[in-house]
Amino acid sequence: MKKGFIICIITACIIAGNSYAQQSIVVKVDAVKSKIQPTMWGIFFEDINLGADGGIYAELVKNRSFEFATPLMGWKLQGNNFKEGDLLVQNRQELNAANPRYIHVTSHSSAKGQQGITNEGFRGMGIKKGVGYDFSVLYRLQKPGVKLNIDLVDSTGKVLGSASLIPAANQNKDWKKQSVSFTANATEPKARLNIWFEGTGVIDLDMISLFPKDTWKNRPGGMRADMVQKLADLKPGFIRFPGGCIVEGRDLANRYQWKKTIGPVEERHLIMNRWNTEFAHRPTPDYYQTFGLGFFEYFQLAEDIGAEPLPILNAGMACQFNTAEVVPMDEIGPYVQDALDLIEFANGNTSTKWGKVRARMGHPAPFNLKMLGVGNENWGPQYVERLQAFTKAIKAKYPDIKLDYSSGTDPNGDRFDYLNNYLRKMKADVIDEHYYRRPEWFLANAKRYDNYDRNGSKIFAGEYAAQSDHTVSVNNKNNWETAIAEAAFMTGMERNAAVVHMASYAPLFAHIEGWQWTPDLIWVDNLRSYGTPNYYVQKLFSNYKGTDVVSISMSNEEIAGQDSLYASAAIDKKSNEVIIKVVNASDKQKNTTFSIEGAEKLAGQGSLTLLKGDSLQAVNSLENPTAVSPVTKPVELKGKNLNISLEPYSFSVIRVSTK
Ligand code: AHR
Repeated sequence: MKKGFIICIITACIIAGNSYAQQSIVVKVDAVKSKIQPTMWGIFFEDINLGADGGIYAELVKNRSFEFATPLMGWKLQGNNFKEGDLLVQNRQELNAANPRYIHVTSHSSAKGQQGITNEGFRGMGIKKGVGYDFSVLYRLQKPGVKLNIDLVDSTGKVLGSASLIPAANQNKDWKKQSVSFTANATEPKARLNIWFEGTGVIDLDMISLFPKDTWKNRPGGMRADMVQKLADLKPGFIRFPGGCIVEGRDLANRYQWKKTIGPVEERHLIMNRWNTEFAHRPTPDYYQTFGLGFFEYFQLAEDIGAEPLPILNAGMACQFNTAEVVPMDEIGPYVQDALDLIEFANGNTSTKWGKVRARMGHPAPFNLKMLGVGNENWGPQYVERLQAFTKAIKAKYPDIKLDYSSGTDPNGDRFDYLNNYLRKMKADVIDEHYYRRPEWFLANAKRYDNYDRNGSKIFAGEYAAQSDHTVSVNNKNNWETAIAEAAFMTGMERNAAVVHMASYAPLFAHIEGWQWTPDLIWVDNLRSYGTPNYYVQKLFSNYKGTDVVSISMSNEEIAGQDSLYASAAIDKKSNEVIIKVVNASDKQKNTTFSIEGAEKLAGQGSLTLLKGDSLQAVNSLENPTAVSPVTKPVELKGKNLNISLEPYSFSVIRVSTK
């Protein structure tokens, strides 16, 4: 056969021996199937992989309050003038149970460089040329005469910025805060902070802190702006926080307790992060939760990025993979009260106890909390029993708050079936499903929600990610194969927006030197961050969400895997657009005609945003952050028809104005 010669038999074509299909897809913009909830595509935040401490929370000093199990972890003594007993870790447990430890330093150095301490930061400190840095410390001067010299140095010891601080004497020997700022003269990913003691005197130090000034919205003590921007760019409908397994904790004593995460940072009770020890193959002994990023900051973040807040609370159960402790039913009262108080903290007016606390923290207006999750990946009758206690109390006081319940760890199996049946009988508002599965599962399950009861509980796909290897494997990659499989599955969620009201990829962040779990949506080092191919899939779905699902079909059927195509369509009543999302999950190009029917008007030109990798193994990286990223080009319509060649292994978003 001559090269290029084309034989077309109905829809199957052959070009030079390569087969490709000629497809006809019909979109009916007037056949509205359901609303798409504004919450549809959101984000799941957990302090895993140094997501919060060492990540988005911009504090550069590790173990600033000496509360790690090893009190001087992250710190080193410097200079050769330290005598035994010159630096002591003291503990005022009886006076301050939340932050008992501090250091007690006796200085007898005539010059800088003889006695000092160095903080190594979280895998070093990321410092940027020209940016201002705020150093602060809580101190108690026991014997005046000590000066603190602060030097920020690079990995070779070169000074990047410095300042000094002469602690003012205070008569009552109360704790005082003093701050000083300086500007960095160079960029350095692995800086350290030196504090040199000079003079003769004795001083107690606590909460030794260093923050960049260029935080998100320039908030002192705030968050890393590049990381928050990545979230804002997703235009998320909601933000689920604070997890994940950290909600449950290894045991009940180390569960996440929101009340311990608000108020002045020095009063927030640090605990060990459960990911510190969870995986023997990825130990992270220096991973703690300082709660500098606490519930107030989560609510504020949600507000900043226009996302509905979705806090998840402990259901009176510790992680069932760990201790599986449960609170006795006759002692569940305080747990339920925490939930009621949280709603008051978020929504109560400023004359209420918790509304007043919120106002004191700087936010008199309510945060307008509408939904709350009880439990993360809990299962069994012990969960149901505890849920009932929560539900009864919350619905009695706050009937409008939507409650989100876990369906366990897996999207099928006995535990799932038990909870799914039970929660539906309970008429659960929202059921949270999790699936960490291989790409094939995502492709094969694009119809998962086609037959879910439209009148029953709504679905929150609270955690999902395609695993290129297997769950918790260190070899999982955020490659194009996983991203395209998620895109295919997400077209199924969008087609079923009548039941799927929320979905979030998980986990969200990972530090390239401090991760425990892969794959993750956004990777960072101390200075940089990049979105994975999976991030761009999420972004395209969320940015071009639309307001209503409309019919899209091929041979009169939903498109969920026939000829390796997966598709959904929506209209956006605000921007007056029809939005078609289509995944070609095969290695063949698909010449496709899209007929857009039922529109009163259609523009002559639309746009096609294409996402694809050079291969299924393609990934993004810090060095090449946009190797797989969307590219948009115009496409011409012929009347109501669009002829598009869907590239092999591609995800396309087509938008046409109906104005
Ligand atoms: O996303 C990582 C973990 O996966 C979450 O903490 C947990 O809910 C799930 O098992």
